[in-house]
Amino acid sequence: MKKSLLCLVLTENTLERNIELIQHYQNYIDIVELRADFLTDREMQYIKRFPALVDMPVILTLRRQADGGKFQGSEAERRNLLKKSIVKAFSYLDLESDFRDTEFEADVKRLGIRIIRSFHDFNGVPGNITKRIKDMAREQGVLPKAAVMPKSSKDLFRLLRCFKKLTHIEKIIVGMGEYGLPTRILSNYLGSFLSYCSKNKNLAAPGNKNPEEMVKLYGFHKIDSTTKIYGIIGNPIMHSFSPLIHNKGFKALEYNGVYIPFLVDKVKQFFKTAKLLNIRGLSVTIPHKQAVIRFLSTQHTHISKIKACNTIIRKADGYYGENTDVYGFLKPLKNYFGDPLKQNIKATVIGAGGAARAVVYGLREHNAHVLILNRTLKKARQLAQAFNCEWGGLDKDGIKRIRNYSDLIVQTTSVGMEPHVEKNPIASYRFKGHEIVYDLIYNPPLTKILEKALNNGCKVINGEEMLLAQAGAQFQLFTGSNYFFPQSSMYDILHSG
Ligand code: ATR
Repeated sequence: MKKSLLCLVLTENTLERNIELIQHYQNYIDIVELRADFLTDREMQYIKRFPALVDMPVILTLRRQADGGKFQGSEAERRNLLKKSIVKAFSYLDLESDFRDTEFEADVKRLGIRIIRSFHDFNGVPGNITKRIKDMAREQGVLPKAAVMPKSSKDLFRLLRCFKKLTHIEKIIVGMGEYGLPTRILSNYLGSFLSYCSKNKNLAAPGNKNPEEMVKLYGFHKIDSTTKIYGIIGNPIMHSFSPLIHNKGFKALEYNGVYIPFLVDKVKQFFKTAKLLNIRGLSVTIPHKQAVIRFLSTQHTHISKIKACNTIIRKADGYYGENTDVYGFLKPLKNYFGDPLKQNIKATVIGAGGAARAVVYGLREHNAHVLILNRTLKKARQLAQAFNCEWGGLDKDGIKRIRNYSDLIVQTTSVGMEPHVEKNPIASYRFKGHEIVYDLIYNPPLTKILEKALNNGCKVINGEEMLLAQAGAQFQLFTGSNYFFPQSSMYDILHSG
């Protein structure tokens, strides 16, 4: 099977601007699609000049509105414009599956241009997708294409199964949107003739990535059937830094792996995908850290106590679960409380959710005396009882008690996170200056609580160190290598290579 091509969809409104776009991205792409429906009426007169000006194969597409395009004229006008514009220099012509003009199509084929016969579904993955592609493939010389919109983990699985059933057929299959992203990154692994990318995220098709991201971050051209697939599951997921961290690590090690964000609504459905794609390792984030546990065959002893799993490795006997948040949380503390961590630290933990559970577990493993303060009292009490801690509300009385648990104050809630950066969950607390204040939030780097603590002479830690440390531990579990970024800050990772 030929290597999958990376196709840049050209969505500028003049031919000249489209050529500039090609020049900008030429090192990343193999082919371009001129979306002539994005051109101004005036520019549409000159479509036929375009392919001769471009140094790579060009697909001509004039998409009507019903299929997600911008062409507003009648079907007869569209047909006439296509007839007027098609010249030998085009390599492909994309025609929808219901477009039929035997004479015109014969002319096109005579010019040596291959017809891509396409259908679109923005509402899901149609039940008969496999059959439709097979039917289209029967037509001599035609390249069948399906662009569909998976809207759930189940839809993604169905689409991936369709790829598997059609391995022997040359075809283009594209999963649009966030659920479909893995199909676009894994185009070569799955056996699609090409995959699309565009300058702007949603202009050409929902969820498209830009060429630089596809190539530099995901290593589009390097992925093949031997590449080991990893990923992160969560909902939402596209904001995650984890693909950046792990893919850069793979690249630095020249490890043949790719790490993909998977939007997941139903964990059970996703595990079918994990099996189908032979996924080797996963990071797990909100809201699935608890739900994944029942799919594990084996697990680290701390999982049953923390009741949250953020790392999964595929082993010979099934999936093995770990929680690297505990290690990630404790690592930065070693600079302040020694390594191994000093016993009997007096600590306050703000919040009683999933993140707080890993924090409290880690602290109690070192015999810290812990006060848990939470907005909802019942949850503070439950967590405190599970780990033998003190508990209270996030109110005046609770905040007063912090002074007896003030070697370390850990903030685990989302209060103070972008965009609500003005908020401080313990605004009335007066820092003495001896407290180490640790906020698990990394965006913004300096939350209100940390800013106030710093101004009062306290030492502060933000969530970046924990993020990197837990990712480093995952990376070691994934690759067996304890190499992690020599750079220690997120800034360096974001701005390197
Ligand atoms: P995570 O896994 O990130 O900890 P979670 O399990 O949903 O997420 O827990 C969120 C924590 O942030 C909880 O302690 C929650 O308090 P409640 O138990 O009262 O819901 C806390 N939290 C979220 N928004 C908050 C707010 N506006 N004020 C105070 N606490 C808040």
